[in-house]
Amino acid sequence: MCGIVGYVGGRAALDVVVEGLARLEYRGYDSAGVAVLADGKLATAKRAGKLVNLRGVLEEDPPPAGTLGMGHTRWATHGPPNDRNAHPHVDCTGSVAVIHNGIIENFAELRAELEESGHGLASDTDTEAVAHLLEEELKAGDGLAAAMRRVCGRLDGAFTLVAMHTGDPDLVVGARRNSPLVVGVGEGENFLASDVAAFIAHTRDAIELGQDQIVELRADGVRITDFEGRPAEVKEYHVDWDVSAAEKGGYDYFMLKEIAEQPRAVADTLLGRIGADGRLRLDEMRISDRELREVDKIIIVACGTSYHAGLIAKYAIEHWAGLPCEVELASEFRYRDPILSPTTLVIAISQSGETMDALMAVRHAREQRAKLLGICNVNGSTLPRECDGVLYTHAGPEIAVASTKAFLTQLVAVYLIALYIAQTRGTKWGDEVFAMVQLLERMPEKVEKVLETMEPVRELARSLAGERCVLFLGRHVGFPVALEGALKLKELAYMHAEGFAAGELKHGPIALIEEDLPVVVVVPPRARDVLHDKIVSNIQEIRARGARTIVIAEEGDESVVPYADTLIGVPAVPTLLQPLVTTVPLQVFACELATAKGHDVDQPRNLAKSVTVE
Ligand code: M6R
Repeated sequence: MCGIVGYVGGRAALDVVVEGLARLEYRGYDSAGVAVLADGKLATAKRAGKLVNLRGVLEEDPPPAGTLGMGHTRWATHGPPNDRNAHPHVDCTGSVAVIHNGIIENFAELRAELEESGHGLASDTDTEAVAHLLEEELKAGDGLAAAMRRVCGRLDGAFTLVAMHTGDPDLVVGARRNSPLVVGVGEGENFLASDVAAFIAHTRDAIELGQDQIVELRADGVRITDFEGRPAEVKEYHVDWDVSAAEKGGYDYFMLKEIAEQPRAVADTLLGRIGADGRLRLDEMRISDRELREVDKIIIVACGTSYHAGLIAKYAIEHWAGLPCEVELASEFRYRDPILSPTTLVIAISQSGETMDALMAVRHAREQRAKLLGICNVNGSTLPRECDGVLYTHAGPEIAVASTKAFLTQLVAVYLIALYIAQTRGTKWGDEVFAMVQLLERMPEKVEKVLETMEPVRELARSLAGERCVLFLGRHVGFPVALEGALKLKELAYMHAEGFAAGELKHGPIALIEEDLPVVVVVPPRARDVLHDKIVSNIQEIRARGARTIVIAEEGDESVVPYADTLIGVPAVPTLLQPLVTTVPLQVFACELATAKGHDVDQPRNLAKSVTVE
């Protein structure tokens, strides 16, 4: 959710902070604000809406130049997205400013206490209470970091906090619990941010902050302690992508760039995982072969698009590894009574590694002593730290809110895991695993081929911009693809879109079919004759009732031609791998249709890239 930037060094802090906010805007765009400390005074500016509004304010009334600053881009939780609730928030004296990502769950109680002791709170936010609590704690005279430690001890919930105080004019303080915060280490300057993208133009050296840690950021150094003030163990790392990866690179939208990057992302995720002997090597898994052999059940937890990757994983795991596999929405998982044991493997899939629902599911599974494996795209995020092992996808930074390349690379990761388990447990012969791996290695080329043939899909999307509803049907792994196609259309085009298992149609949803209703059908490869023929019958059923059929089928599948109003051909690949090629036209379709409707596809309304609240 919200994006946070902090800076201290030799440059004009405002420029560094606003540039950082521009790179973090995907995290939330309800409002933006900055604070700069100059000549012993704090100056703040904030404005509801996207960063462009704040830029207007800063141009009209620039704050004094200072070399210490911080900025915030908000995804509203407490209080409507207006100027008043925009961060930073200040205390009664105007000498402390705070920005925050997360939710302070006991804020009502803290607010009441503060109001009773005479503090005037100017906003509806939970964050503002922190500014006033700091004001109280600073009276002890031991500085901002010590005050922050004591305040953190009083807070419940999830928070990343960054604060500045006129009494500590060369210091920015950050605190982290359950929300992301990374340090960028420069020369004579240092950075704080929710995501390395904010400072990647200045440094690729980063420090990952752990749970319940405080960072004191000065131009000449960084000190990290726990909430009790003890020096903390930290993990330094070098970011393996550069600023060009976080820029649009000539595309109108990040989403277009990220769709186009998919062949490379798929190839990168496979890289280094196949040994010279053809055997899979997943060293980062950190779950021993013995432990893997003992696993008797797999549960996958994830949200949104990552959940759809999990649904596809189930087919691959059960087919190749012969293990029962359940897939559960992470937000539901801990509210039932999942049966877990030390021989259960829980796989959490999350692009960002910061999705609170996924993290809470993982913590619940940990309490039940299950083994934990993460699939994650963001190095330095929370999920990998909380799992026994991790398989990183190498999609590179995904900035558009709608997930595209992260999804395809998650699929590659789950295929690798399923095959690795099959290899370890001996449910597939070595040569069978190798044959499948070879097919996987050809997938970048297949995805590239799909991308080369997308003009008719774009044309179709533009022609449907006036529709109110689109349905998506699939069977087997085509069902999660249908769900993903519908999710993309909902989040980008704000249209009613539903994905159904085609076999379920006759049990209710067929009543939705009316004259000219666009229905996208994902057809399995012809090699799966039973499945294939069943869905061809489903297409006929909906067409007979007037639906306008948009059929995605493998090239050369003549059997669907008579029933397809529009036919989108994809390269022939094995059934389990088909989502890698059938999802791409659906991404292009949603992106183009939303663009035709005039929507900003990188920042769809009401959404944020990583959902760090439950
Ligand atoms: O970072 P995560 O993979 O955990 O995010 C999960 C969902 O919030 C995410 O996939 C969301 O559904 C996307 N906006 C879909 O395009």
